[in-house]
Amino acid sequence: MVSYEKFIADIYDSSPFFGQGKARELEKFNAPYFRHLRDRPKRVLEFGSGTGMLTVPLARAGYRLDSVDISSFMHDVLSRKLQTESEAVRQNVNQIVADATTFSSSEPYQTIVMPEGILIALPSDMLQMALLRSCHRNLAEGGMILIDFFQPYYRVILGETKTDFSRFHTLEGDTYIMRVDFSNDSYTQIQHWHVTYTKIVDGNEVGSTVVDLDFRYVFYSEIKLMLEIVGFRVIELDVEFAEHRGFFLAAQKI
Ligand SMILES: C[S@@+](CC[C@H](N)C(=O)[O-])C[C@H]1O[C@@H](n2cnc3c(N)ncnc32)[C@H](O)[C@@H]1O
Repeated sequence: MVSYEKFIADIYDSSPFFGQGKARELEKFNAPYFRHLRDRPKRVLEFGSGTGMLTVPLARAGYRLDSVDISSFMHDVLSRKLQTESEAVRQNVNQIVADATTFSSSEPYQTIVMPEGILIALPSDMLQMALLRSCHRNLAEGGMILIDFFQPYYRVILGETKTDFSRFHTLEGDTYIMRVDFSNDSYTQIQHWHVTYTKIVDGNEVGSTVVDLDFRYVFYSEIKLMLEIVGFRVIELDVEFAEHRGFFLAAQKI
């Protein structure tokens, strides 16, 4: 399971391949969620809330969120952001540290949102099915899931090896060079990211942090079938989401 420990949580919003691109164009990434939620009840369940890139804008717009994330470190980042919001916005977010695949609420929801990544952060088809079953269990009849997830490099899927280097600054002013070595197992559909963050001070390397992450990518036809098996009908599937970097999908419980 992809585990968002303290280091990743703290740099998430600034780091390439994680929150950096989304933070720069937040409205665009969040737009399909707002479009679908416009006519829906204000009470929403969020799985994989992370640092709150959808949570905070929804809370500001008056939605009441139960925001579930397995990482207490990601919750800490969200808590810090909420401290700078008004009391009314803070009251709209109920942070829950829990595993979304086993989460069970006594009161079903009309909508579940899963922005960017929780599905593919679960690195097996069994866990991904458990997540979709959890959505089904926690939704009322006719309830909707709204989800987006990025797609990994197709060329890496096809067997190419790839290494990417980028340099970035954190909000605290630290500078890092990020190296990502991508590899792929096309049998299990697992793309592995071996990430090395090297901190730079005055032009010198002063230490590295290594993070290993596995993502299980899914294909369009596969996710549609998975949803149908669990008991959903796909209402919308946008394969051009975020300049073809991902899918946005809306599905209804039947
Ligand atoms: C790629 S991040 C997306 C964060 C955020 N939604 C966003 O839009 O930036 C995926 C999030 O899913 C969380 N996650 C992974 N597995 C989980 C699980 N089994 N239950 C709940 N949250 C999980 C991670 O901790 C992480 O915060």
